[in-house]
Amino acid sequence: MVESAVVTIKDKSFKPFIEADKIQSRIVEISQEINRDFERNNPLFLSILNGSFMFAADLMKSISIDCEISFVKLASYQGTKSTGNVMTLIGLDAEIEDRHIVIIEDIVDTGKTLSELLPNLKRHRPESIRIASLILKPEALQHDIHVDYVGFEIPNDFIVGYGLDYDGLGRNLRDIYQLKS
Ligand code: IMP
Ligand code: MG
Repeated sequence: MVESAVVTIKDKSFKPFIEADKIQSRIVEISQEINRDFERNNPLFLSILNGSFMFAADLMKSISIDCEISFVKLASYQGTKSTGNVMTLIGLDAEIEDRHIVIIEDIVDTGKTLSELLPNLKRHRPESIRIASLILKPEALQHDIHVDYVGFEIPNDFIVGYGLDYDGLGRNLRDIYQLKS
């Protein structure tokens, strides 16, 4: 096993936190659960870009049931004063009515992103919606969001790597790193 070293991104240092091997074996476990839960349902995975691209790619490699995947993005723009910062869903090209949806997220932090996404998706009347997130920060959660498939629960510290970025950088790292205090 290769020992990962501290990485520096812009003004910050990050220390090794979750190794690539550990990420991969946890993802296989999650995919087995999903394979069981959706055996005859032909689920539609919705990968939320940008952060979830690596998790989605690796997860799909171990999904053995019939399924489809589509990639969407949440664009935030400054709304009117009364609505504040609004997020809109872009890129949804799949028909989701009556489908079993599995949302693929890199991380659920405050839960704000999903709390805006879920009502939006429900308007299209899917049969069911479940959430798979590689990372969950339970202490940071501020919205009533239930994550059905959780890779790792971590403390409320900033992380990068494996799709997660610091100011746009670090998404390409194979391991996950934690901000050094
Ligand atoms: P939310 O607070 O659950 O809506 O998460 C919002 C977004 O913040 C996530 O999709 C990530 O893009 C980003 N985020 C939250 N925590 C971290 C982190 O520790 N590292 C990198 N990005 C993060
Ligand atoms: Mg994200």
